[in-house]
Amino acid sequence: MRIGSPYGQTPAVTEMRALTADDLPDAWQLLEHAFGGANSPEDWEVELALVEPSRFLGSFEDGQVVAVAGAFALEMTVPGGPRPVAGVTWVGVRPTHRRRGLVSGLLRRQLEDLRAAGEPVAALWASQGAIYQRFGYGPAAWDVQLAVPSGSAFTRPVPAGGMRMATPDPAVLGPVWDAARRTRTGWSARDERWWSYRLFDPESRRSGAAPLLSVLADGPAGVEGYALYATRQQWSSGTPSGEVHVREVVATNPEAYARLWRYLLDLDLMKEVRIGFVGPDEPLLQLLAEPRAAQGRLKDNIWVRLVDVPGALAGRCYAAPVDVVLEVVDAFCPWNTGLWRLTGGPDGATCTPTSDPADLTVPVADLGGAYLGGSSTLAARAAAGSVVERRPGALAQASTAFGWPGPLPYSPLVF
Ligand SMILES: CC(C)(COP(=O)(O)OP(=O)(O)OC[C@H]1O[C@@H](n2cnc3c(N)ncnc32)[C@H](O)[C@@H]1OP(=O)(O)O)[C@@H](O)C(=O)NCCC(=O)NCCS
Repeated sequence: MRIGSPYGQTPAVTEMRALTADDLPDAWQLLEHAFGGANSPEDWEVELALVEPSRFLGSFEDGQVVAVAGAFALEMTVPGGPRPVAGVTWVGVRPTHRRRGLVSGLLRRQLEDLRAAGEPVAALWASQGAIYQRFGYGPAAWDVQLAVPSGSAFTRPVPAGGMRMATPDPAVLGPVWDAARRTRTGWSARDERWWSYRLFDPESRRSGAAPLLSVLADGPAGVEGYALYATRQQWSSGTPSGEVHVREVVATNPEAYARLWRYLLDLDLMKEVRIGFVGPDEPLLQLLAEPRAAQGRLKDNIWVRLVDVPGALAGRCYAAPVDVVLEVVDAFCPWNTGLWRLTGGPDGATCTPTSDPADLTVPVADLGGAYLGGSSTLAARAAAGSVVERRPGALAQASTAFGWPGPLPYSPLVF
C-alpha cells in the first residue's frame, strides 16, 4: 500500500478476496464511477449473466469494495485452435482510491490465481494502452475502424445468391459463428450469455439508428454467412445521406462474405457503411476496386499476457519449425523469469527450462504481443529495441515461427 496519496486518506485495513454475488451491485457501481459513465438496468442484466463472482477479486475497506478486477473464462482461438484464455475485465478503482497500488495488487493476485488454476494465458481490452505493459501485457492484435462510401464498386462481380433479412437469432447465427471462429485467432466461443451480450441493442446505444437486424446469406449448405447491422436514416438538404452501422460480418466462404458486403454497400438511401472492428487485413479492402475510398483508423485491439510462459508457449502451434532458447524477463511474475527452450512447429511445441545460453532476450510483454501470431512480431519489437538477439539468425527464425498464416488476429467483441 502506497503512503501519501493525494486522493484522501490511506486506508487503515484493506482486505482482498473473491467477490460474492452480494458484492456485485457495489462493484458494478464502482465501475460506473471509475469509468465515468451511467449504466441502465438492462446493461446490468446482460453483464451480470456473464459474471462468475469467484473469478472476480475485490479490495475492501471497512467492508466496502474499493477496487475490482475480474476474469471471464473464455475459449479463444490461438494459433493451433481454440484454447482457454482468461478474459480480464471489470478493472477499476474507486476515484477516491486511485494511485495507491490497489489495482496493481489485484492484478498480481489475479495472475497468481490464474497460474494456480492452470490458466496460462490472459487477454484484455485496455481502456488506455499505457496502463498494461507494466503488468506484462503486450498488444497482441490490432483493428481498423472502417468507413466505406455506399455503392463502392468491387473488382469482380459477386455471384447472386439468396439473402434474407431476419431478427437476429443465436440459433441461426450461432452455427455460422462457431464454424468460423475456430480458425480465427482472437475470436471466442459464444454461449447463450455471450450471444445476449453480442446482440444487446438498447436504444441508448444506437446513436440514432434503427434496431439491430441480421441479413443471412443462404447457400447450398444452408446459412453460410450473416451480417449484423442497423441503418440510420439521415437527409442533408433533401439528399439522402444515411449510415449503415455494421456490428460484424461472418461467413464460412468467400462468396457469401462478398455477397454480404455487397448487400450492405448497396442499401438504398445510405451514404456510408461503417464497421467498428475489422482486422488490418480485412478482405473487404481486397474486394474494393478503389480501396483508397475506405477510410480507416488503426488501433490496438486485445492485449495478451502469458501467465505461465512454458504452459502458454507449449499451448500453441507455430508457423514454421522453431528451436530457440528464450531468456524471459518478467519482473511482475518472477516465476516466468529465466531460460526456456522452445521447440516446435505447425503441429505443436514443448517449452522446458534450460541452462543453455540464450538465443533471444524477450520481455514477457513482447511474448504476449506476439502470442496470437499478429503484427506485434518479435522482429518488430527487436526493431523497437525491446527484444535482443543473442545468436545470429535466432530472431528471424523465432519471429517467423510466432507468426500464423491465417487472417491477422483481432477480437470483434469488447469484453
Ligand atoms: C487505471 C486504474 C485501474 C488504475 O488503478 P490504480 O489502483 O490507480 O493503479 P495503481 O495505483 O495500482 O497504479 C499502478 C501503476 O500504473 C500507473 N497507472 C495507473 N493508471 C494509469 C493510466 N491511466 N495511465 C498510465 N499509467 C497509469 C500508475 O501511475 C502506477 O505506476 P507506478 O507503479 O509507476 O507508480 C484506475 O485509475 C481506474 O479505475 N481507471 C478508470 C477505469 C479504467 O480505465 N480501468 C481499466 C479498464 S481496462
